[in-house]
Amino acid sequence: MTDEPRTEGTRVYFTGTCEGFAELREALAGHPEIEVVGSSEHVGQASAALAGGHLDCVVHAARTDAFPATEVAAIREQTRTPIIIVAAGQGGGLLEDALEANVADVLLLPQLTENVAFAIRKAAHARTNVPRATRPPAGRVVNVFSPKGGTGKTITASNLAAALARQGRKTLLLDLDLQFGDAAIVMGLEPDKTIYDLVVAPGELDIEKLAGYTAKHPCGLDILPAPLRPEDAELVTESKITRLIEVARECYEVIVVDTSPFFHGPMLATLDRTDELLVICGLDVPTLKNVRLALQTLELLSYPSSRIRYVLNRANTKVGLSKREVEAALKISISAEVPSDRVVPLSVNKGAPAVISDASSDFSKAIVSLAKSLTPAESRAKRRKLLSMPSMPSMQRS
Ligand SMILES: Nc1ncnc2c1ncn2[C@@H]1O[C@H](COP(=O)(O)OP(=O)(O)OP(=O)(O)O)[C@@H](O)[C@H]1O
Ligand SMILES: [Mg+2]
Repeated sequence: MTDEPRTEGTRVYFTGTCEGFAELREALAGHPEIEVVGSSEHVGQASAALAGGHLDCVVHAARTDAFPATEVAAIREQTRTPIIIVAAGQGGGLLEDALEANVADVLLLPQLTENVAFAIRKAAHARTNVPRATRPPAGRVVNVFSPKGGTGKTITASNLAAALARQGRKTLLLDLDLQFGDAAIVMGLEPDKTIYDLVVAPGELDIEKLAGYTAKHPCGLDILPAPLRPEDAELVTESKITRLIEVARECYEVIVVDTSPFFHGPMLATLDRTDELLVICGLDVPTLKNVRLALQTLELLSYPSSRIRYVLNRANTKVGLSKREVEAALKISISAEVPSDRVVPLSVNKGAPAVISDASSDFSKAIVSLAKSLTPAESRAKRRKLLSMPSMPSMQRS
């Protein structure tokens, strides 16, 4: 997995089988506007890719003339992405049932590759242009992850979130290190409510309810702290996290997620909604070993490599391993280097993020430039327009 530039192709996954399907898949793999994420004859074997692959469309080949209701239901269990059915032969009763099941299109093979590519792009486009009320929310999820403890996830996530808030971006710091999260402490806050209180509170989660459980930092950042007791973590289930991120994206421009060093359920649910995955690397062999394993897992999950950025923490330490050696060992390129800096432990003990308490330090400058690089100014403007940003009294700071 390399840190290749983001491709603009429509991300497609193929399931099922029928006559002519293998040839079609091969032809589409060479199409400049289509990015083939993978294929699996059996839907059951594709769950990871369907759930985590950030797909724009699934093309399912029906083996017979009958509508593949079971397979379509199984695909929908994993992803809400549009489904196109292809079949060989006459199609029989397929079309009517397919319309009823709300699939995006039905194509009878053989077809010109260009026609199928057009149908795929049309289905994907229709999904991103649904009316405002049903449009997916606009906030961007930045997930700070490392498969090794102590590499600097919390320091990076909290300072990054504070820097973004300082830059005027409406930002939520979400602590999903559910057992031992310390993002609130690093920010100098002693919260009385946490994500645990939010998920056990009665009633549907919505923007107003979320606002009632976030701690407000004077820099403008909102924080949803981790549970106070490790045993409370298990009540923060994947479905609660999924809904939480959905709601947070409606009212924040950026959601910065601090994580634990594991691929457990909550992390996988977040990954599925992650726009930018910042993988924190360090200049030590055990961390590199774990990062390599994590990259293999991400590949198995079909997580798009174009959404991964590598951050080298403590980049200036002289420990017999260089940035170039890390890049060569992992076959990646590092996007940002953060120096080891005394201001970091000092700021943690003061309870004030370094980007605020020591803004002129090299550490803070590195984090601020990382924050600026996350979304270019132009797309920031677009995002602002998309966000409804309701002016609710409960969300305004005094
Ligand atoms: N760039 C840095 N310069 C100096 N100290 C740093 C830097 N980054 C992290 N640290 C220190 O390293 C320690 C671990 O950092 P941090 O808590 O962010 O790691 P983590 O990856 O979140 O760990 P965990 O997996 O346990 O949650 C902290 O005490 C922090 O002060
Ligand atoms: Mg941490």
